[in-house]
Amino acid sequence: TRTPVNVTVTGAAGQIGYALLFRIASGQLLGADVPVKLRLLEIPQGVKAAEGTAMELDDCAFPLLQGIDIFDDANQAFSGANVALLVGARPRTAGMERGDLLAANGGIFGPQGKAINDNAADDIKVLVVGNPANTNALIAQQHAPDVPADRFTAMTRLDHNRAIAQLAKKTGAAVSDISKVTIWGNHSATQYPDIFHAEIAGKNAAEAVADEQWLADDFIPTVAKRGAAIIDARGASSAASAANAAIDHVYTWVNGTAEGDWTSAGVVSDGSYGVPEGLISSFPVTAKNGRFEIVQGLDINAFSRPRIDASVAELVAERDEVKKLGLI
Ligand code: NAI
Repeated sequence: TRTPVNVTVTGAAGQIGYALLFRIASGQLLGADVPVKLRLLEIPQGVKAAEGTAMELDDCAFPLLQGIDIFDDANQAFSGANVALLVGARPRTAGMERGDLLAANGGIFGPQGKAINDNAADDIKVLVVGNPANTNALIAQQHAPDVPADRFTAMTRLDHNRAIAQLAKKTGAAVSDISKVTIWGNHSATQYPDIFHAEIAGKNAAEAVADEQWLADDFIPTVAKRGAAIIDARGASSAASAANAAIDHVYTWVNGTAEGDWTSAGVVSDGSYGVPEGLISSFPVTAKNGRFEIVQGLDINAFSRPRIDASVAELVAERDEVKKLGLI
């Protein structure tokens, strides 16, 4: 029998946590033959609700779920972790400036990065979901000098999936016929969803659409502002789709991308495409043998270049701000 994989989830009592934990326990995160142990981290006020969710997990009698432990201490929660999903974060509240938001989250993701550094398993893989996800991931990574930097990633898979869905809607194509969509930059309203390299049943997607105005005025803002549209409609932020994307991100990271396709993830930049080295920015990535690799050598056209640059500039500004605040 296989040794169980330790999966630590922070913010376990939140809405994404509620949509995520059952899917992890059912085998969708890693594979239908991989037993898991859940390690849930909450703030003290969240522990009781996490215990309630754990009771429900018990009640599912998932064959692959070999244990659930609940903590309010990061060192304990990340002890032996093979996969860490950092979902819990400090949300932006009314009147909060970007600096306040970054500072509040630095107070969470710095110590969690250090706790990962000191306690996680050697093969730890980290996905940051909590916003601002890219910069939170950078803060955590900077506090984990003993962990290879490429183990820290930020989630743009929800944006990636949203882009596929919008493209399918526009063209009438099946979602499964769409490949090589890319999200560039920050998981924020400045992100750039790029279909110039995407394919629909093997044909170039931008040529199939042949409507630059739709791209500029409809597709890009619809994808980039989808989170706000969901809040408007649902009265609460995306939770099930965010959890689904987290499942997709880790599943792909561990099990690989399909031949001839790629996905999008916030990964540490190696300087490719003019993105400053060390930033955690979204790129087109393939996954193989448990590692993401940035797809190299794509032509960036005049439509894409300024859009990528604008989102990367926002990431640079966030990095400079957290540096100034002494958070990294
Ligand atoms: P939520 O507010 O329902 O849950 C957050 C949970 O985190 C709460 O239970 C809270 O007690 C817990 N928490 C706060 N600080 C913590 C800490 N230091 N350690 C452990 N737990 C802590 O929020 P929801 O809807 O589950 O969203 C979570 C995060 O995910 C938010 O930051 C949200 O903006 C982000 N998000 C990111 C997306 C992406 O595509 N990257 C998509 C959707 C949401």
